[in-house]
Amino acid sequence: MSERNYRIASIPGDGIGVDVQVEARKVLDTTAGRYGFGLDWTEFDWSCERYTQTGTMMPEDGIERLSAFDSILLGAVGFPGVPDHISLWGLLIPVRRAFLQYVNLRPVKLLPGTTSALAGRSAAELEMVIVRENSEGEYSKLGGRHNEGQPGEFVLQESVFTRVGVERIIRYAFELATTRTGRVCSATKSNGIIHTMPFWDEVFAEVAADYPGVSSEQTHIDALAARMVQQPDRLDVVVGSNLFGDILSDLAAAVTGGLGMAPSGNINPEGTYPSMFEAVHGSAPDIAGKGIANPVAQILAAAMMLEQLGESEAAQAINAAVEKVLGDGAVATPDLGGKATTAQLGSAIAGALA
Ligand code: NAI
Ligand code: MG
Repeated sequence: MSERNYRIASIPGDGIGVDVQVEARKVLDTTAGRYGFGLDWTEFDWSCERYTQTGTMMPEDGIERLSAFDSILLGAVGFPGVPDHISLWGLLIPVRRAFLQYVNLRPVKLLPGTTSALAGRSAAELEMVIVRENSEGEYSKLGGRHNEGQPGEFVLQESVFTRVGVERIIRYAFELATTRTGRVCSATKSNGIIHTMPFWDEVFAEVAADYPGVSSEQTHIDALAARMVQQPDRLDVVVGSNLFGDILSDLAAAVTGGLGMAPSGNINPEGTYPSMFEAVHGSAPDIAGKGIANPVAQILAAAMMLEQLGESEAAQAINAAVEKVLGDGAVATPDLGGKATTAQLGSAIAGALA
């Protein structure tokens, strides 16, 4: 087995996750042939469908089995009939946490052939990357429901912010900024959330002091949301907690080409464990099974996977093929104003490579 042979776990999941995964694999296999590396795929049927049959999203030794892979490419999980907290906590969150994928990296860019919700903005003005904390924060199991059904019923949901967790994600954002425009904006809400957010701000200021060449600022999440729409050109690297990063990345996707265009990486920067790549979007039950989902987000996620595996040239080739096909505009899915199917757009991108 050559050194450039990668073992990839494929988890298509549910809904359009399955459709877009087929196209991402098509593009990846074409790229591998052209750039001389190997992709050794193993497919897992872990999904809500599996949950309805067996009672679990993945087998008990699921994490152990995934640990043998170089990387994981995930479609999307979640489907009507299975509560969303089951699909999230039964698969996605355990993988993110067990493999210390503490960075959730979500780049957005106004691609050729796409119209921004902010018409008139250029590609240069609409390019940023959301660095979302991916292992703790507001997504926590701590808390509980008390006095259920009584007048005094109440619920508690605790957030967890550790010094290690906050510092490493902020440091990742600053490191990333040194390779981009040298600007970092931190999402905060220290006026309303008076324990965790002032702590987040304090660590942000400490890390910022180590990067005199990077300009840094912090903005309250509400104002930052408005700024992302009104002055997106002022933003480049945006770092936020698990919840803030989640919301901002959907917003960032929406102001560029929409959810069908936004990729995401759950990254273990140290490479101790496999990282996992997926689109920002979910399983889209409203269009599942119609063959019209836009596969671009998943194909760009596949390119992020190659970048992380060290196949930078191949990753850039995929990005270029996507831009070429979208720029031509002849093959576009309905969300882009066209009539093409998922498979036609995937094949056009694979064809632009080979
Ligand atoms: P969603 O992202 O699946 O869909 C939101 C809207 O965007 C829908 O109208 C959908 O048709 C459209 N859309 C999404 N991706 C598209 C694509 N590739 N091409 C064209 N249109 C696209 O979010 P929603 O509806 O909130 O969630 C549906 C299910 O997905 C839920 O069960 C949810 O829990 C799950 N989900 C899973 C995620 C994951 O696996 N990482 C992330 C987000 C949601
Ligand atoms: Mg989200």
